[in-house]
Parts: sequence; structure tokens; C-alpha cells
Amino acid sequence: MPSFCEKYAPITLNMLIGNRIQINRLIDYGAAIQAGKKIRPILIYGPSGTGKTAAAHAFAYSNGFEIIEFDASDYRDAETLQKRLLPATTSRNLFGSKVIVIFDEIDEISSRFDRGAEGILAKLFRDAKCPVILTANDYWDRRLVFLRDHVERIEFKKPSANEVVSLMCDVLKKEGIISVEKATIDILANRANGDVRAALNDLEAMVDASPELLDNLGMRDRKVETFAVLDKIFTSKKLASRNAALASGIDKDMLMKWIDQNIPIRYLSKKDVANAYAVLALASKFNNKATRTNYYGYLRYSNDLMSGGVSLQNTGYISTMNPYLFPSVIRYLSTTKAERQYIKAIAEKLSPIFHVNRKEIVNGYMPLLKLMMENGASVQGEDNVLLFMEKNFNLEKEEADFIKDRKSD
Ligand SMILES: Nc1ncnc2c1ncn2[C@@H]1O[C@H](COP(=O)(O)OP(=O)(O)O)[C@@H](O)[C@H]1O
Ligand SMILES: [Mg+2]
Repeated sequence: MPSFCEKYAPITLNMLIGNRIQINRLIDYGAAIQAGKKIRPILIYGPSGTGKTAAAHAFAYSNGFEIIEFDASDYRDAETLQKRLLPATTSRNLFGSKVIVIFDEIDEISSRFDRGAEGILAKLFRDAKCPVILTANDYWDRRLVFLRDHVERIEFKKPSANEVVSLMCDVLKKEGIISVEKATIDILANRANGDVRAALNDLEAMVDASPELLDNLGMRDRKVETFAVLDKIFTSKKLASRNAALASGIDKDMLMKWIDQNIPIRYLSKKDVANAYAVLALASKFNNKATRTNYYGYLRYSNDLMSGGVSLQNTGYISTMNPYLFPSVIRYLSTTKAERQYIKAIAEKLSPIFHVNRKEIVNGYMPLLKLMMENGASVQGEDNVLLFMEKNFNLEKEEADFIKDRKSD
């Protein structure tokens, strides 16, 4: 199975996120080369995971070049370098196709140059009949002094968190994963800090793995922090628990989900649980109002209500060292691929029948269908229920069974 990074690597330059001006320069260079102009070697440099290698490859694909590529792992010696560069001196390879030479991570390659290699490159820069692209982390690296005067340089910057979020949403959509909360994606995108590779890898790990794996995603500190704040909220009985919540770096939407999931685990009396949920509902209302009206002053109320407000409803709590339950959003992400495929297939069948979106099918309708089947089976018998599901909802037996056996959150 290819990784998300491989599977969703950009094929054209326009598919890259961020660096619009830089990408447009590459597109212009491509056009100039196609028009027969000679362009100096292009050096793309910038932080890791911003798409430098991907851009070099997309440049080659878009312009129909065959790639001759060197990277730090396969650089050997000047003689081999010379040999492999032979087609570059003629602009076409043996079979007549146009070639491009790519030196990926030239800083790493050049630190292992043996005698003569720099000279070969200098000659290539001067005489090459084909385009040359180099990538590196830092233009000012001393190892790159030898090529500074010979290249067009393009600096790649980190894409914004928003751009990373929209790429991640895109990937989830193509994977058919429909009910991931925006808050979860936001957290991953922020953590990645402009490293798109890291963002996609985290997303993939999160989608494919058990909740425990979140630990390895660097959410460990977050989790410890989250648990500490939840402890404060569920045991303090005081308004002051809001200070702990505010002081923490935990995303407030996410925190609300944690509280939502865990009130019944810590509060002893049913009345307290009910009161706590009433307060939380109010908090959520202010939250929605803030986003709807763009007046973020409302968040003051929702932050206080979900933390201090919930604490005040507490007349006696359950002492436990058990970990808190993950919000079901995250647990959804931890379902297996096979499960997700079922969910997707079912949601696609039912969405046009019930006239609601797929998310609503999963969260609202599947639990209802489960109840319906359970109750129906005792009255009409299993077989009749299956027939009914097939006839009315076009669901096969496996799909009906899947709905019936699925644990509700
Ligand atoms: N700007 C971007 N737009 C879309 N995908 C990206 C971008 N940057 C990185 N990626 C994804 O991350 C993977 C690794 O990026 P890569 O080009 O190797 O980064 P770099 O060479 O800058 O370290 C790519 O294959 C692609 O899937
Ligand atoms: Mg790279």
C-alpha cells in the first residue's frame, strides 16, 4: 500500500499547496524551456516537507521530461556521475525523449563529493543541453557555495495551516472518510507546522491506528495535559477550574468534546450528569453563535461554561485512575479500513434515500436502523428484517449485519 504522501503526491505544479508565486515561476520556466530558451539550473530550497522534491518531479511530468535523478543515497563517485550525466549533454536520451536532471538534496550529495565531482557539475551547469533542478534545505549552507553563482534560486516557504487543512480534507474525502471533525484536522495541521509530509503521515497514522497510537503522534503531551485539565474540571466543584482550562494549550473545541464524552464517567448522581450536560449545551450554543456571527466575544461564555460551569454542577464525583475516554470523533478515526469501507458504502446507498448527507447517515440514521433491526427481528423474525432492508434500502446482508453489530458510541 502506498503511503498518503506517495498516493497524493502532486502530479502537476498546480496541485501543490502554498508558494503560489514560486510555483508560477516554475510554470513560466517550463514554458520558456518548451519555447526553446535556455534556463540556468533551478535551485529550490526551503524547509523540509514543503514540496521541493514534489515540485521538481511535477515540473518534469508537466513538461514531459524523463528524469535522471541523483540523491544522497545513490551518489557514488565522480566517474559514475559523469556516466549517468551523459544523456544530459545531448538533450535527448538514447530513445529520443527529452531529459531533465534532478539533484535532490544537493547539500547532502555535495558533502560526499569526491575529487572532480564539483568540476563535473560546474561543466554541467555551463553546457547542459537539458534543464537541471536542484533541491536543498538552506541556500546559505557552505556546501553550496560552489553553485551559488550558477543557479536561479527559488525559495519555498511553509504553506499556511489553512492550506494544509484543506489538503488534508481533500485526502480524507478521496479516502472516503466522512465523519472526521474539523477540530481534529486542525490539531494535526497545527502540529505539522508547515511540514506537509508530516501532516499527511500523521493523518494516515491516525486514520489507520488504535487510539494508543495517538501517543506516538506527539499527542502524548497533549493527552497528559488534557487529562490534568479534565481532572480539575470534574473534581474541583469550583468555578476556578476554568483557569486551568484557559491556561492550557488545548484546543477549546476539542476540550469540549473530551468533557462531553467523560461527564458520565466522573459524575456520581444522575442529576449532576444532567445538569452538567445542560451547561455544556449552553456552552456549545455560545460556541456556535461565535462562529455564526463572527463575534468571538461569545467564546468567553462558552469557555467558562464548559469548564467552571460544569464543575459547579458537581455534588460528588467518582474517584478513579482510569484514563478518560477518547472523544468519539477520535475513536471514529481509529476504526479499521474495512469498517470504513462498509460505512462508506452504506452511507452512499442511504444518503439519496433519506435525503440527508452521508455524515448524518452515519451519526443519525445508522444507530436508528440498528434499533429498528433489533426490534424488528423479535417481532418479524431475522429473515423478514433482512428482506425488508434489502427491498427498501438496497442493503445486502453483510451491510445489514454490519449496522446491527456496530457498537454505538
Ligand atoms: N506543497 C505541497 N503540496 C502538496 N503536497 C505536498 C506539498 N509538500 C509536500 N507534499 C506532500 O509531502 C510529500 C513529501 O514532500 P517533498 O516534496 O518530498 O518535501 P521536501 O522535498 O520539501 O522535503 C510529497 O510527496 C507530497 O505528498
Ligand atoms: Mg525532498
